[in-house]
Amino acid sequence: MTIPALHAEAITKTFDGHQVLSGIDLKVMPGEVVCILGPSGSGKSTFLRCINRLSPATSGHIYLSGELFGERESAGGGAVPLEHRRLQEQRQRIGMVFQSFNLWPHRTAIENVMEGPRVVKGMKARDARSLAETLLERVGLSERMKYYPTHLSGGQQQRVAIARALAMQPELILFDEPTSALDPELVGEVLAVIQELAREHTTMVIVTHEIGFAMEVADRIVLMDKGQIVEDASPRQFVERPREERSRRFLEKVMSRHALSTAQ
Ligand SMILES: Nc1ncnc2c1ncn2[C@@H]1O[C@H](COP(=O)(O)OP(=O)(O)OP(=O)(O)O)[C@@H](O)[C@H]1O
Ligand SMILES: [Mg+2]
Repeated sequence: MTIPALHAEAITKTFDGHQVLSGIDLKVMPGEVVCILGPSGSGKSTFLRCINRLSPATSGHIYLSGELFGERESAGGGAVPLEHRRLQEQRQRIGMVFQSFNLWPHRTAIENVMEGPRVVKGMKARDARSLAETLLERVGLSERMKYYPTHLSGGQQQRVAIARALAMQPELILFDEPTSALDPELVGEVLAVIQELAREHTTMVIVTHEIGFAMEVADRIVLMDKGQIVEDASPRQFVERPREERSRRFLEKVMSRHALSTAQ
């Protein structure tokens, strides 16, 4: 039996007594692409942040390739959080791409991509540079390697951010609405890069509002609502015959928005 690349088990998250995630179970197999859809405030970003423990879950556990992530078994039988240094080491196994790119502004594109391999993995400058060049080429930015983020378009910045995530050779990449801060004409170039990664069987969890993109790229579509997973289906099944009434209502809403935007 194949071990899931990611297993989120019974994840809950509470902020000041307010429950935002109410028991999320999700397994992602190696090479699988899962797109998460859902209304604003349903807990999608919070869930991603619980996966890599940027914001640890209130309860539940994360397993990467069958190993407990961000925690270790305690002598008493439960699990306790890993000390910060060990957590930082483990975090290298998960890449994250944010809506707002989060590049280092005082570093060029290539320096942004080299930083992780150099500093965190201790790679020689020459090797890190050559890795970064290969990755920037792969995302179509060989002409922009020495540009600072402020001199790059949003789409270009996001592609640098993807190259930066890839440079750490993560087992899993999380995307939190990677295109929603972009002008519409720049969305396609970023989606094309993610699509290429999907073709190469990169394991990814992608929170997106782009339903058409999710349909094309995802092996499974998951719909979240009010801190729960309400549907987990193949793209086709999700659109053509969703099991839940909640999914049908969500689809009606996004489809009418989609029709409006394509008609413009
Ligand atoms: N740090 C925080 N402190 C308190 N409440 C929070 C915090 N982060 C998120 N929340 C709350 O958790 C809920 C879920 O937020 P989250 O950002 O995960 O939603 P989302 O599905 O990603 O929404 P969107 O589509 O708008 O990005 C919201 O009600 C939000 O106000
Ligand atoms: Mg969000």
